[in-house]
Amino acid sequence: MRVYTESNTVLLLCFLALGLAVDAVPYDYTASIEASTSRIFSYLLCFFVQCLKNPHKPQYGGGIIKNPELNEGLKGWSSLGGAKIEQTASQDGNNFIVAYDRNQSWGSFSQIAQMEKDNLYTFSAWLQVNEENVSIAAVFKTPTGFKNAGSVIAECSCWSMLKGGLTANFSGPAELYFESDNTSVEIWADSSHCNHSLKKNGALTMTTFENEMKWISNEPNHGQEDYSIPDSMLNFAGQNGIAVRGHNIFWDDPSFQPGWLKSLSIKDLRAATGKRISSIMTRYRGKVIGWDVVNENMHNSFFEQRWGPHFTPDS
Ligand SMILES: *[C@@H]1O[C@H](CO)[C@@H](O)[C@H](O)[C@H]1NC(C)=O
Ligand SMILES: *[C@@H]1O[C@H](CO)[C@@H](O)[C@H](O)[C@H]1NC(C)=O
Ligand SMILES: *[C@@H]1O[C@H](CO)[C@@H](O)[C@H](O)[C@H]1NC(C)=O
Ligand SMILES: *[C@@H]1O[C@H](CO)[C@@H](O)[C@H](O)[C@H]1NC(C)=O
Ligand SMILES: *[C@@H]1O[C@H](CO)[C@@H](O)[C@H](O)[C@H]1NC(C)=O
Repeated sequence: MRVYTESNTVLLLCFLALGLAVDAVPYDYTASIEASTSRIFSYLLCFFVQCLKNPHKPQYGGGIIKNPELNEGLKGWSSLGGAKIEQTASQDGNNFIVAYDRNQSWGSFSQIAQMEKDNLYTFSAWLQVNEENVSIAAVFKTPTGFKNAGSVIAECSCWSMLKGGLTANFSGPAELYFESDNTSVEIWADSSHCNHSLKKNGALTMTTFENEMKWISNEPNHGQEDYSIPDSMLNFAGQNGIAVRGHNIFWDDPSFQPGWLKSLSIKDLRAATGKRISSIMTRYRGKVIGWDVVNENMHNSFFEQRWGPHFTPDS
């Protein structure tokens, strides 16, 4: 019987200086995915990632990853490279998968997913190791070669989120697995997701996201911002030479406001809109080519109705 314990919440925010340096580095839209993956990920590595006591739920319910939260035993997962694998649970009942007795860098757990050519997929997973801090990469073995879908430094007392993606240059099965050069550590994983996000074609050079950058998606609860999905999608667009127009900072349709916004006083609304502007624009400075500032303000008037016809948010 193997027993796992997890220490108290460790919330690691990256150095502000690193964040600012990252912020100033625009995506290299011309680089190919293979050449740019590790560099882009090393830039982004620490930028917004926190190390958490419990992982979040998988994005998009796991997308094409089966049994992403390990709530159905090891269903869908196999051992790779001679590693032993098992499903286990934390003290507070969160299930996850562990690979141990790893004798190869690729000794881990794997799962087959079906992909379609020219689709861009976002990928994320929450990772932890039992000792040290170790870099772990997510890799897809495809019919025509290996595709790196991102990497992260996993820590030993909390869960770190790997955010990445890949473009499928094939149609068919691909085998997802995790890889770490240090074979003496156990790899733990939970909440993997892989989901088709954009279709690439010769003509696609610019795009906007449908809902992922809207306020209602980024701050569903007052004061709790979550940019993990637009971060993954932006990574991805950047690696594939697709420019992104930011959409949108505000949306004037009253039915698509974060619920909590409607009950704010004018003064608090003004403060909240100011914070929204600086939060999203600072985060994506240099990464989007422009912004839709107030969407659909010709036939809607959520903000104008609240503080008059000369609505100009503080910034
Ligand atoms: C992927 O995400 C979209 C939303 O962008 C969703 O509609 C779709 O069902 C997801 N795909 C899978 C396989 O879960
Ligand atoms: C892998 O290494 C462990 C020791 O680290 C050993 O006990 C085990 O037999 C090895 N497994 C294989 C398949 O070589
Ligand atoms: C892992 O990295 C974190 C953050 O950089 C650091 O605080 C911690 O001491 C490291 N742990 C080990 C075992 O190296
Ligand atoms: C697909 O990408 C892989 C990894 O970059 C590469 O090795 C392979 O040659 C590519 N296949 C095709 C058909 O372009
Ligand atoms: C691998 O991890 C072990 C601890 O699990 C550590 O003692 C060792 O120094 C690490 N090796 C490398 C090359 O980082």
